[in-house]
Amino acid sequence: MNRSDLVHTWLPDLRAAVAGLYPDQVDDVVDRLVERSSRAADERADELVQRDHRRLIDQAWYQSNQRVGYMAYLDRFAGDLRGVADRIPYLTELGVDTVHFLSVLEPRDGENDGGYAIRDYLSPDPRLGTPADLRDMIHGLHANGIDLCLDFVMNHTSDDHEWAVAARNGSAYHRGLYRMYPDRTEPDRWEQGLPEVFPDMAPGNFTWDDTLQQWVWTTFREFQWDLDYSNPDVLVEVAGIALELANLGVDILRLDAVAFTWKRLGTNCQNQPEAHLIAQALRATVAMAAPATILLAEAIVAPTDLVGYLGRHDLERRECELAYHNQLMVQGWSMIATRRADLALRSLSQLPDHPGRTTWFTYVRCHDDIGWAIDDDDALAVGVTGSGHRAFLAEFFRGDFPTSFALGTPFGVNEAAGDERTSGMAATLAGVTSALRDGDAAALSHAIDRVILLYSIAFGWGGIPIIYMGDELCQADDPSWRTDPERRHDTRWAHRPAFDDDLAALRNDPSTCTGQIWARIRDLVEIRRSAGVFDDVDTVSRPFDAGNVHVFGWRRDNPRWGTMIGLANVGETAVTVTNRPVELTHDLLAPNDPDPWLLRPLQVRWLADPGPLATSPS
Ligand code: GLC
Ligand code: GLC
Repeated sequence: MNRSDLVHTWLPDLRAAVAGLYPDQVDDVVDRLVERSSRAADERADELVQRDHRRLIDQAWYQSNQRVGYMAYLDRFAGDLRGVADRIPYLTELGVDTVHFLSVLEPRDGENDGGYAIRDYLSPDPRLGTPADLRDMIHGLHANGIDLCLDFVMNHTSDDHEWAVAARNGSAYHRGLYRMYPDRTEPDRWEQGLPEVFPDMAPGNFTWDDTLQQWVWTTFREFQWDLDYSNPDVLVEVAGIALELANLGVDILRLDAVAFTWKRLGTNCQNQPEAHLIAQALRATVAMAAPATILLAEAIVAPTDLVGYLGRHDLERRECELAYHNQLMVQGWSMIATRRADLALRSLSQLPDHPGRTTWFTYVRCHDDIGWAIDDDDALAVGVTGSGHRAFLAEFFRGDFPTSFALGTPFGVNEAAGDERTSGMAATLAGVTSALRDGDAAALSHAIDRVILLYSIAFGWGGIPIIYMGDELCQADDPSWRTDPERRHDTRWAHRPAFDDDLAALRNDPSTCTGQIWARIRDLVEIRRSAGVFDDVDTVSRPFDAGNVHVFGWRRDNPRWGTMIGLANVGETAVTVTNRPVELTHDLLAPNDPDPWLLRPLQVRWLADPGPLATSPS
């Protein structure tokens, strides 16, 4: 690999992005970004350059069916950076090769939105350890075949980041990195189009700062200051940080809140075309120096906006390689609440295919609330209204609907906008917690089946499936947030418990729900790894009509490994599937079952021809 080849490979992407963002300053901004990237390339450690080489040879490394992800708050999982080494055997036993550790970099003092208000992007939280500990941890992960995903909080800094401090001290350059207004005139105009992300915790999108005597744009909490990407200095500074993180050895940079990065008056300031150009510019700049590092879009947006972050536009663009499949996640929960698959079929059929070199992060739960991203047209197509169905899901998962098994907690309730999101661990939302409370063995068995059904869709869809810490142990909500003054107004802490070693000790005991869930998730890991149909190269998943409203069907046509049919029975009775796109006779998940097209309630099947690549072409 030759550095100038890398620059030339990515220069057209960079120039196009910068020309779209800053048409009057293209040469200057491109030069500054290329200069940053060549400085980073000079400083890149030899072992990371080796990693670059390996990944330029194996370019589809992140599309492999060997990938299994795990996400956890680092302190809650391992205590501190050094503690991670002691947890590596656990990760390896589970089969994980990609970890997303949250809340690693130094946050502001006091409340910090679970680590998303960063004071220093280049140092770890001192409570977790030193910069040397961070380097050792990354080294230890890599030595054990585990890649690291870290948050790159690029929409905002904390209000005590050095740029914010300099702005308060009167530096015009640093004031220019943020969006500030002397009075309410402009904020009031912008507010007309803006929703509120945290309506109860942080109403409105602007915060008055006494020192500055200005209203500062704060989309999220009052201490998270939005950066102003219409100023190219912001892009150059942020790209510089991305390059430093790549040089630390971060394999996947998670572009936090990327959808919010560009503001346009008269819009809701999300998913603007320029937000995609910012991702594209970062993609190109990082790739010029650190081709081993890829980008993950954290764009928890409506289905119509989602695939753009993977570069699907009128023409394909090189943007993020990975994005959260929040639509698949939402549809999974919607299916187990309604026991119907028609809305999922409709909504997922509408999604355009993602570009060939990209794939999904598939997941069931994460550290955030679930926003009920049901599209109005999709809802109408199956005979319900969007607002009605969203309200139903919120009610169902907070446990107030008559047939509900869930015990979730509302998040971000906005009565004026008719919006309510949901917090809770998978076990809580799927009915494990209520079944245990009621001592109801039959309900418990169904609840466990629901957790596994959702994980079987995440693991069987394609992409990198993510296990959210605790789900593999059937862990319940953490009630302690309710009495902690720093956490009690943010219900997301309900599903951010500490790792439970007592529960982990039960993982090989099949008489416990922990043992059952653990064994079945382990099966998903191993079976997926053994089956080439889950490799994502040149392969996308598409839903199909299985001929029964209670069965969700999806198929993958892998050019090397053949077809895979996924089936999930979300209904309450057994079903024989008659709409069979291909007559497959083998279920990877239950290879001894005589009839792979017969599904009991809450059963998932992965139908595919087993075995290695064919030995002779036909
Ligand atoms: C992302 C994070 C979320 C955080 C927000 C603001 O959505 O996942 O936890 O509150 O960004 O940084
Ligand atoms: C991010 C997500 C949104 C979530 C919020 C708080 O903005 O896009 O869905 O509700 O963070 O967790």
